[in-house]
Amino acid sequence: MKILFVTPECVPFAKTGGLADVTGALSKVLAQRGHEVAVVMPRYRMVEPGKAVLPSVTITLGRQNHFPSIQNGRRIEGVRYYFVDYPPFYDRDQLYTVEGKDYPDNPERYTLFSKVVLEFAKRIFTPELIHGHDWQSAMVPVLLRTQYNADPILSQLPFVLTIHNLGYQGLFEPEVLDRVGLLPELFTIDALEFYGQVSYLKGGIVFSNYITTVSRKYAEEIQTPEYGHGLDGVIRVRRDCVTGILNGVDYTEWNPETDKFLVVNYSLKDITGKQACKKDLLAQFNLPTSDLKKPLIGIVSRFAVQKGFDLIEEVADSLLQNDLYLVALGLGEPRYEELFRTLAQRFPEKVGVRIAYDNPLAHKIEGGADMFLMPSRYEPCGLNQIYSLKYGTIPVVRATGGLDDTIEPYQPATGRGTGFKFSAYSGPDLLESLRQALYFYTTDRKAWQKLMRNGMQKDFSWNTSAAQYEKLYRNMIRRRKKTAS
Ligand code: ADP
Ligand code: GLC
Repeated sequence: MKILFVTPECVPFAKTGGLADVTGALSKVLAQRGHEVAVVMPRYRMVEPGKAVLPSVTITLGRQNHFPSIQNGRRIEGVRYYFVDYPPFYDRDQLYTVEGKDYPDNPERYTLFSKVVLEFAKRIFTPELIHGHDWQSAMVPVLLRTQYNADPILSQLPFVLTIHNLGYQGLFEPEVLDRVGLLPELFTIDALEFYGQVSYLKGGIVFSNYITTVSRKYAEEIQTPEYGHGLDGVIRVRRDCVTGILNGVDYTEWNPETDKFLVVNYSLKDITGKQACKKDLLAQFNLPTSDLKKPLIGIVSRFAVQKGFDLIEEVADSLLQNDLYLVALGLGEPRYEELFRTLAQRFPEKVGVRIAYDNPLAHKIEGGADMFLMPSRYEPCGLNQIYSLKYGTIPVVRATGGLDDTIEPYQPATGRGTGFKFSAYSGPDLLESLRQALYFYTTDRKAWQKLMRNGMQKDFSWNTSAAQYEKLYRNMIRRRKKTAS
């Protein structure tokens, strides 16, 4: 099959979160499985330029013409990368925000991107199906089914939308439609209108042929008011075309046996190297390295409301009564940055914090920590807990979305399970899970090692999920051919 990925971020070019890991790894695995795959994304400042394949595309937004180009990036492991180059829109420090606030011209930036993608699909790489990711690609199906509906090349082209996070919708003032040159008729309850605003993601949900999200549980959750961010009704209407496909992970990047960022590699067969990784990790955070027996809890995260830091704030004082270390790497909302900074000041012998985006350190935390903490309020899939399993770092998670689908609770009687999880979004419940984890860590080495082995044996590589996407693509393409004949 010939598939075009449309995404705002992709490893190894630009990343703010798991979306980039997923588009990077899934495209690669599909190519390995014999498909022709191209990925198109904006050329941000950190992306090396490629050679122009279309030096100028005329795109009209409102009353103004813009002239972006399309560049051919490298071909890596069978995947072809193309970049939409338009320095006024993408040559900026950050992908989406400045000083924590969304760029005001995000609607222009991602509508232009979507329009260029359609021209690219007509002229350079005409796929059998387009697979778009998150709200930034959602104008592609909207345009396909409206302004491009009569196009002989693109009409009927199937579009699959993956929602990686319903919390980010691309929500704008109504005048945006005029600014970006979308039809005013789209401002209705059946299309883009959302409580008086314009929702790009809603447009994607309404106009895509199929919608996937990144775990089975999250696919159910987003159909409920509690997790629907106001879109649960719209998703319920399309429930026959909604499914959850669990993300895989890329074990060529995330594996303690080969991880180049660890001071010593280790594996299921010989786990001894993990101690050296723990020592190195403590040193990275300037914490004492003399007592490696104390449990070390790790956090790597965007500091966003989604991730459950309110609960950590609630229980931090009680938790830090225990003899343990806590290290956190992340950045985002100032109040959570402040929370960890304050804890590190108050407990300098116990808590280490790094406010940064630091991939090598993220690997060191997976390798060196004993437990990995993810008490998310909601979590479409979550990748770090899956990485943690492979590193023998026991996840302590809230039972929501992908966290619930990937972590099995430890059962002391049978020795089964891979981690500790709690259900209610409550501080005491989080604390109770942590207490259990600390109890087994400190009193029952055998049980702990069993837990580590259980996790390290799990296989969340991409092949199973890639096969599910293939099946879906095949059905969509077949359906198109049927309608055409
Ligand atoms: P989300 O996409 O919601 O942020 P995921 O768990 O799916 O959550 O993916 C997060 C990805 O981003 C992981 O690969 C994680 O290691 C990485 N990451 C998040 N924050 C940081 C950070 N501060 N430094 C380095 N890597 C980070
Ligand atoms: C989102 C979600 C995260 C998921 C990632 C990749 O950023 O927050 O849970 O793992 O996308 O699908």
